[in-house]
Parts: sequence; structure tokens; C-alpha cells
Amino acid sequence: MRDLGNTLQLARESGVALGHFNVADLVLLKAVFTSAHELNVPVLVGASEGEREFMGVRQIAALVRSLREEFDFPVFLNADHTHSLGKALDAAKAGFDSVVFDASALPFEQNIRQTKEAVEALKAINPSILVEGEIGNIGTGSEIHELATDLSKYLTTPAEAKQFVEFTGIDVLAPAVGNMHGMSLKMVEGEKKKRLDIERIAQIRSAAQVPLTLHGGSGTDDGDLAQAIVAGISIIHINTELRVAWRSGLEAGLAAQRNQVVPYKVLPSAVESVKQVVLARLRLFNWIGQTAIGKKDRPASTVREQQAVS
Ligand code: G3H
Ligand code: ZN
Repeated sequence: MRDLGNTLQLARESGVALGHFNVADLVLLKAVFTSAHELNVPVLVGASEGEREFMGVRQIAALVRSLREEFDFPVFLNADHTHSLGKALDAAKAGFDSVVFDASALPFEQNIRQTKEAVEALKAINPSILVEGEIGNIGTGSEIHELATDLSKYLTTPAEAKQFVEFTGIDVLAPAVGNMHGMSLKMVEGEKKKRLDIERIAQIRSAAQVPLTLHGGSGTDDGDLAQAIVAGISIIHINTELRVAWRSGLEAGLAAQRNQVVPYKVLPSAVESVKQVVLARLRLFNWIGQTAIGKKDRPASTVREQQAVS
């Protein structure tokens, strides 16, 4: 089976993006895996430091590995937003396929130095692990925020991207291109959408020469996501949308069966609710059944069958 690096390369050649979905429990993992399996597209499961602490670093690695082996399916695991080298090394030792080493809150020079050190240490443990670095400011917290903060002055420049990639040796770059973590209340209600700087994505992709990840995908305009893929985004992170669906599915499951205390009779409602989000996002990222959005921009090479799992 292909590894994450080959899968990413194939995604780029096919003009699609790999969906990355964060999980914090078995409900979310089940929803993410079954959606990808049903659509027959590769998928990246993400677990941030907090999510890993809750599930157990080695335990989530074992779960994802068991799905990959039992179903012979390309499901990969990413250690999302890892701020310390120690935690990055723990994830690599547990068998994660990739690590997002996130020192983006530090001044640029320190971010560069620490990320380079992380790349070297992680590759020493597993030479084929992918390391992603992050520059710019896209806010923190896959949560519902009162208001969307204006982060427009922290956008990544192509020159910074080039310097960062060349110095650190990262495999994947996460830039700030209009994206932000979390959703405002208006976004949850569907009244507002995040908008992306598509031109900047294309310039950064050409300067950086490595695959790009779009963080903070929740609540982003569908047309912008489609154009971002064409411009050079190869991985798209979605978390808050899943969390919103997890909560409403759970509440619906509990409300529908007032005296029910059997978890496996309540939780399928949450799985189903999260699945609807994951399916919709994977269809968009893989151009499955997309009739209107981004069609004019769709690259000729984007053939659905190219992405099918082989
Ligand atoms: O790393 C996780 C993400 O970037 C998710 O962001 O919660 O806005 O979808 P989001
Ligand atoms: Zn993120």
C-alpha cells in the first residue's frame, strides 16, 4: 500500500486534496473512517496534543493502524499542532505518519530554528515520517468564537515560505492565507463564510515547492476551497464543523430516547451527524459529484478514478 508521502503526491497529480479530520473519541474516528471507506478515498486522521492526551498517543495510533490493516485501506494518522519536541517524538515513536510541528507563535527566526531541529530529530526516528511546519498567524482553538478575529496582517508571504522551507527541510507547509481556526457564531449558523486569498496560495506554492496544508477549514466558502485546491493546497484540515455535528448528533440521540443509558444505542446518532459533514467535505475535496462549484477551474487531469484507492 502507498504511504502518506506517495498518497500526497498522487493527490497533487490528480488535482484533489486529502481531507484531514480531527478526532477525540471513537465516535469521530468511526465517522471519519466509514465516510472515507464508503467514498473510497484516502483520509488523514488528526489528533492534536489535547486530543492525544485524552485518547492516549499509543492508543489512537493502534486504532488507526488496526483500521488500515483490517480494511487494507489508506487511512493515515497525523500528530496535529505539536508545540514541543518531546510530544512530537512521542508521536513518531508511536507510529504516526506525520507531525505538524507548530512553533508559529514564536518569532520567525526561532520558529525556523526549532522546526529545523524537529525535522532532524523526527527523521532520525522514522525517515519516512512527514513533517509539516507552520508560519503566519491563523489563531488558535477549533471552537466556536464570539467573533472572527481579523488576522489579515499576519498572512504568509511567498518569500517567507521559500526561506522557511529551504532552511528547515520540512515536507509540507501550512501558510496563513485568509484561513483561521474555529468558527464564529455566524459561521455556525451559515450566515458568514471564511474567504481565502487564492492568488497568494498559488504564489506560495510556487515559491515553496512543497505540498501545502490549509488549516482552519471549517466554515470556509466551498468555491474558495475548490479554487484553493487548484492553486496548490493538498491537505485540508476540518475540526470545528465535526465538533458542532458531534454535539448536535449527541443531543438528538439523547433527546430521542429519554431513558436510554446504553451508549451504543445513543452514539450512532452522533456518528451519523458527523458522517454527513465528513462525506460532504470529502466529496468536495475529491471532486465527487461536484456539478457547479469550481467546475470551470477544475484541472483537466482531475479524473475521479485517478483518486480511487488502488
Ligand atoms: O488543525 C486543525 C484545523 O486546522 C481545524 O480547523 O477547526 O477551523 O476546522 P477548524
Ligand atoms: Zn490547524
